[in-house]
Amino acid sequence: TLVGAALEDRLAETSVTGRAEPWPNDPYPAGSDLSARYASLRALLAGELSAQSVVATLEASGLRGMGGAGFPTGRKWGLVAGAEPGGVKYAICNADESEPGTFKDRQILTDQPHLVIEGLLLGMAVVGAEQGWIFIRHEYGPEERVLHAEIDALRAAGVIGENACGSGRRLDLDLFVSPGGYILGEETALLECMEGHRGEPRNKPPFPGNYGLHGRPTLINSVETFADVPVILQRGAEWWAEQGEGDSVGWKFFAVSGHVESPGVYCVPMGTTVRRLIDLAGGVLGGARVGAVQPGGASSNFIGPDKLDLALDFGTLAQAGTMLGSGALVVLAEGTDLLAASTNVLRFFRNESCGKCVPCRVGSTKAHEVLRGALDSGAATLDDAQRGRILQLEETMRKTSICGLGQVALGPVVSVLGLDQGPAGQE
Ligand code: NAI
Ligand code: SF4
Repeated sequence: TLVGAALEDRLAETSVTGRAEPWPNDPYPAGSDLSARYASLRALLAGELSAQSVVATLEASGLRGMGGAGFPTGRKWGLVAGAEPGGVKYAICNADESEPGTFKDRQILTDQPHLVIEGLLLGMAVVGAEQGWIFIRHEYGPEERVLHAEIDALRAAGVIGENACGSGRRLDLDLFVSPGGYILGEETALLECMEGHRGEPRNKPPFPGNYGLHGRPTLINSVETFADVPVILQRGAEWWAEQGEGDSVGWKFFAVSGHVESPGVYCVPMGTTVRRLIDLAGGVLGGARVGAVQPGGASSNFIGPDKLDLALDFGTLAQAGTMLGSGALVVLAEGTDLLAASTNVLRFFRNESCGKCVPCRVGSTKAHEVLRGALDSGAATLDDAQRGRILQLEETMRKTSICGLGQVALGPVVSVLGLDQGPAGQE
């Protein structure tokens, strides 16, 4: 647990996009090559580390999925390892980062491809998968090239291939470039897409850990989650737990954008406050005050300026009625039209709805019509009838949509109805 001077020291290491020095979480020396990196993978394949001990270390570390939902990583790895022992399994790194305001995975893929790939290979070895994929957003061309270069080097060095690290085990990797579309980042839509079907979410359960790619148990984690695994195995679960502030554990990458002086990617102890992260990003543009913040990307509910001392971690944000989500802090300055801003978010979800289920397809369209009508009439906020319709649509969509997109699409709009707002304006 970091407090006082120790926390200040840690935050001094906090990093921004374009930094020359390595990120503070990287366990491998700066500039080290393949022979020094992939140390945990080599140990696992050499039998010096067992699959069970990897799962136990992840459980002890408290690592949770950084894609947004925060499912305990050790538990997921243990579940997939235990599913259909000896059968064909797969592992997939979800690099289809597409949430508005979210660009931290892009930075991790660029700067730490070795950690992402080692985490994925460790996952494959632990659950018993021979083939792994990185499912990458189609706009991430430069990152694709970085990953290809790393994978080629690993294959040439014999770290992966038919006889990975001389272990006699096959471990191989490939990239799958998303054909495009926000919904493909939803893990089951991603699976449908990889199987050659329309990219529409499946009903869950069953979860991919039991019924994934081609119906086989499949380990799916996000870029940041996989990258955290070798960090934890090299430095220990205790070390990881100590990195967070207060009760929080580990390091966390955030994309900070909106009305801040220095938008970019920051790596801070989990549990850093909203206020501190805004300060690290240079404060609000022009020294203005904060009007509202989305702490976890476009899917997360807005919080007001009275909540800036909240800790950025899963539990605290959930208790405050929002979420850590995709690790994207979007800051809006005082005076920003919050109804217009949240309508803009809703419009994005309406456009990206895959249309498979009625509540999301029709509900998002209807809600946008109501909101657009209010904005176009120049009203300061919604009237009682409009508010009632939005609240009904939100409840219906939240309770009956089959995937997260429809379930959260109206959350940000409803959240700003409870905040002080300026006059209605343009999206
Ligand atoms: P979810 O809660 O359904 O699942 C989270 C993970 O845990 C999944 O991998 C799921 O398979 C697994 N899981 C959950 N319960 C399980 C069980 N009982 N047994 C085995 N495995 C289980 O959440 P979902 O829909 O996968 O993700 C929603 C989150 O994604 C949101 O919080 C949102 O912030 C985030 N998101 C991130 C985006 C990005 O660009 N990074 C884009 C859009 C949303
Ligand atoms: Fe598609 Fe929306 Fe239904 Fe998700 S909730 S499956 S995005 S229609």
